[in-house]
Amino acid sequence: MGGSPLFTGIHIVELEETDSTNNYAKQMLADAKPMEGTVIIAHNQTKGRGQQGNVWHTEKGKNLTCSYILYPVFLGADKHFYLNMVVSLAVKEVCEIYLEDEVKVKWPNDIYFGKNKIAGILIENSISGSSVITSIAGIGINVNQTTFDESLPNPSSLQLLTEREIKVLEVLQQLSIYLEKYYLQLRKGNFHFLQRAYTEALFRYNQTAYFKRGEQTFKGEVAGIARDGKLIIHSNGKELRFTMQEIQFVI
Ligand code: BTN
Repeated sequence: MGGSPLFTGIHIVELEETDSTNNYAKQMLADAKPMEGTVIIAHNQTKGRGQQGNVWHTEKGKNLTCSYILYPVFLGADKHFYLNMVVSLAVKEVCEIYLEDEVKVKWPNDIYFGKNKIAGILIENSISGSSVITSIAGIGINVNQTTFDESLPNPSSLQLLTEREIKVLEVLQQLSIYLEKYYLQLRKGNFHFLQRAYTEALFRYNQTAYFKRGEQTFKGEVAGIARDGKLIIHSNGKELRFTMQEIQFVI
């Protein structure tokens, strides 16, 4: 996709090192009102954060770790999951530029190529009354890292998959373009478009898969996403809905 974004990634705060770009963005929001679309990128994160309180490790200078500041005041708090859809779809499309093949979104927002995780997303919203006021979209894309901690489940990177080195700032530029494309769809209220695109991008959509719920493993089919972002699984003739804390894919 050509062109330049109008507001996402126009103001770039490039840091050699910070604890977490999401934390840095939060502090910027506490101090002032940065321009919408401001992105903070760090070449090293000392305390990168993942979902569910996990740590996000990346090797210094190898990967894209960034956070965009958005003000989706037009979005009802009950629809906050659409921000996950917007960011997931943008990261998926950026990865597809390099991989030239289908990248999937493992619900709710892990980015997978085959059985390998190549990117993660941590969105932190502030809500007032019934609206989302600010959103920090934290994105980590494994770009040039080629060795990973053994404790991580199936990690990979764009370099490992393409066998070439990719410029991190070029990936950021592409990400700003795609993030704006999907964010503008949300701003226009194109909920069906986003829901359909996200559903079709889902890892193991319409396929039989195995899931873990506590100690129990069960078989089911990924059937879609509910309005509140819960994963819908058809299993044993029943429609089940799960939150992120309640279920895991068996990969
Ligand atoms: C996950 O898969 O658990 C989410 C990982 C999100 C990592 C990114 S890196 C940039 C931003 N800053 C953070 O501390 N986390 C997010």
